[in-house]
Amino acid sequence: MPAHAPKPEILDAFEAAKGFMPLDEGLALYVAAVEAGRMGLPLLEVGTYCGRSTVLLADAARAAGVSVLTVDHHRGSEEQQPGWDYHDPETVDPEIGLMDTLPVFRRTLFKAGLEEHVVAFVGRSPQIAAIWNSPLGFVFVDGGHTDEHASADYEGWAPHVAEGGLLVIHDVFPEPEDEFTGQAPYRVYLRALESGAFTEVSVTGSLRVLRRTGAGI
Ligand SMILES: C[S@@+](CC[C@H](N)C(=O)[O-])C[C@H]1O[C@@H](n2cnc3c(N)ncnc32)[C@H](O)[C@@H]1O
Repeated sequence: MPAHAPKPEILDAFEAAKGFMPLDEGLALYVAAVEAGRMGLPLLEVGTYCGRSTVLLADAARAAGVSVLTVDHHRGSEEQQPGWDYHDPETVDPEIGLMDTLPVFRRTLFKAGLEEHVVAFVGRSPQIAAIWNSPLGFVFVDGGHTDEHASADYEGWAPHVAEGGLLVIHDVFPEPEDEFTGQAPYRVYLRALESGAFTEVSVTGSLRVLRRTGAGI
């Protein structure tokens, strides 16, 4: 087990939630969130989906006395739409025929007893980033996997990571044969390192934790 591990009830809530994050990556995400929480700044997630990763971030935020901000339009990414491998028919609102993961997310948080530690932004990530203007201790990028979306998430949110804060990128696949939704997160990860503003802290599966050690993006 890593230095900081969630209590069994939090791990149970994580495992019970719909989502795409394996346990080893979840534990690494948790360790990073606990560390970043000590800065006393909010933690931000792009890509709420049904709240699987949010449960871990919310528990870390609770311990630190900060909030998690989580951003999603709740209509699903490209690969989650009907006909694609990652589609879950239970996430479709039958009345309008579109995905709506917001009610599932709310149930996940409620059942985990973590609602009060999370502020959910429902909308497109670049639109919300455009009106955001405060420092963050932690940014977790797990939204759209196209170059357009992954780059916009980096450009919109990475500038707000405070000095010493963490930038965490999910679904980083350096080998093309390993990727399942494209290599845009890998390109964003390379861009962050090449900027000289971020230094790698840890690698767990497809999860990369970087620290801000310089200015810019
Ligand atoms: C891979 S899922 C997130 C998985 C989640 N972090 C977990 O642990 O299960 C990606 C999410 O990003 C959202 N998304 C994709 N592009 C977005 C955008 N431009 N703005 C807001 N949300 C977006 C999708 O709706 C989807 O719920």
